[in-house]
Amino acid sequence: MLDKLDNLKRTHFSGELRPEHAGEMVTLMGWVHRRRDFGPLTFVDLRDREGIVQVVFDEEKNSEAHRRAKELRGEFVVAVAGKVVMRDKDKINPNLKTGRIEVIARKLHVLNDAKTPPFEIDGPRPSEEVRLKYRYLDLRRTRMQHNIRLRHRAALAVRRYMDEHGFYEIETPMMIKSTPEGARDYIVPSRLSPGDFYALPQSPQIFKQLLMVSGFDKYFQIVRCFRDEDLRADRQPEFTQIDIEMSFVRPDDVFKVLEPMMVEVFRLIDVKVDMPFPRLTYAEAMRRYGSDKPDTRFGMELVDLSPSLAGTDFTPYRSALDNRGQVKAINAEGCAKYSRKNLDELTEVAKRYGTGGLAWIKMSEQGELTSSLMKAMGEEKVAELFEAASGKEGDMVVIVAGKPSVVAASLYAVRAEVANREGLIPRGKYNFLWVTEFPMYEYQEEDDRFYPVHHPFTSPVDEDADKLETDPGSVRAKAYDLVLNGVELGSGSIRIHSREMQRRVFAGLGMSDEEVRTKFGFLLDAFEYGTPPHGGFAFGFDRLVMLLAGEASLREVIAFPKTASATDLMIDSPGPVSEEQLRELHIKIED
Ligand code: AMO
Repeated sequence: MLDKLDNLKRTHFSGELRPEHAGEMVTLMGWVHRRRDFGPLTFVDLRDREGIVQVVFDEEKNSEAHRRAKELRGEFVVAVAGKVVMRDKDKINPNLKTGRIEVIARKLHVLNDAKTPPFEIDGPRPSEEVRLKYRYLDLRRTRMQHNIRLRHRAALAVRRYMDEHGFYEIETPMMIKSTPEGARDYIVPSRLSPGDFYALPQSPQIFKQLLMVSGFDKYFQIVRCFRDEDLRADRQPEFTQIDIEMSFVRPDDVFKVLEPMMVEVFRLIDVKVDMPFPRLTYAEAMRRYGSDKPDTRFGMELVDLSPSLAGTDFTPYRSALDNRGQVKAINAEGCAKYSRKNLDELTEVAKRYGTGGLAWIKMSEQGELTSSLMKAMGEEKVAELFEAASGKEGDMVVIVAGKPSVVAASLYAVRAEVANREGLIPRGKYNFLWVTEFPMYEYQEEDDRFYPVHHPFTSPVDEDADKLETDPGSVRAKAYDLVLNGVELGSGSIRIHSREMQRRVFAGLGMSDEEVRTKFGFLLDAFEYGTPPHGGFAFGFDRLVMLLAGEASLREVIAFPKTASATDLMIDSPGPVSEEQLRELHIKIED
């Protein structure tokens, strides 16, 4: 028999009770986490969003409540009225925040029963599939409750900070036309314009720029974005940005707003963030780390071996250097101990990034050199290369040759792998880094054309603007990323605000006047009515919360995330629609 809520009122959350509540009568409401019977005594751990408290049903003191408590099963929903008492010294549970008290039940109301859940809440973690199918139960787990609460608090801290700094939160539409952020659009068919489609925004980029034209000066929005792209642990098809735009700014002005915001947000997890954040240009980040989002919590920087190889006739290196390639190395300190098997594993990691293989040079603790290059290059050259890479006794130098992009990516991957294996990544360290002056365009061989590295509204660096037509590959942009511990937390740029410059950049991307007119006519028109210089930024909010929560996947900080194949296992989406709906939308499905 279930009881009614009637006029029962909760007085406290279970997890909030502390010794100072001892002696008080309280009414708690929540879920039965666990029940243990000891004859005349029944203990129920009562759980709500703030935590767990032990409730005692004592047959002697209240036989009716005790009798009903025996009917309780896991996840039943109950209300308990009772008195908070201090536990005896030997009964204190140091693992529970409420572990010094317990509640002696006077009355029990069973508000709902529950089927046995497919996994024990806070028991061993079930498979990802089960978690996502029963997400509403997975979200009951303490860790998920913590993560979702942290997400709420982070959003609140951002809103407060932005408001205090004069930003307006302005909503932009969700049903728009395609915006070019580089991914595929999710599209929505229109019923009223047969054959036409809306696109869901990949970001509010164009709208925030138009808000600057409108004179709002400082805009932000915590906003959902949609991108149909290949998913990874740090990508979701729908995700949230903290989107920001400001008028009359240079990159420094943007950094000065964003850095203290990070200080505020990281205060939520008691981490003190130092300002100003270090900066690296894109070129330097690539040269030193082989990545535009380097994890700077540990060293092992890349070393260019080409000075030592100027006169080499060793074919792989000669041909790399003669064909605008590179030969670079990292010194894996203390890794001379690596076995053949370890080396094979490292090679596998590097090969994923396109290199054919790794060369290595080891020096034993006794100073003896061994190397995969010994036969081909001789001891003297091998020793020179080892020294050029700052190798010492006990170290292993790993070398990759080839196209700069392949050398960079392969060595960055090896660097990360070694750091993980050797435990070189310090816990509790948060290394922010600005990476600036990204290239404007990226050339893609497959279709022999340039693509914007950021997006086509990004302004070139002033000194480089005259090379837009003659040497587009060398033009740097006023674009910057914020990197945290090797994760791209967000990115932004100073925008183009002149119609003429915007036209030149579109032309550089191979867009005809006609195409520009249809896609962005409204933007070019807007630029003719007094557009202020402006710039901005967007954080990946899910990524930010993921790092705050110390999680490795975005799914751990999104209440209802999608799988790697962009499906929702709980509501079973995407799914078919009725013939009737399709007809109304003028859509025919072909096999
Ligand atoms: P960008 O495309 O770099 O820039 O996106 C900004 C940040 O959003 C996050 N992000 C994602 N997070 C989860 N899942 C995804 N699929 C995903 N894609 C991107 C990243 C990224 O750094 N309009 C520009 C910003 C600007 O110029 O102001 C933009 O969207 O953390």
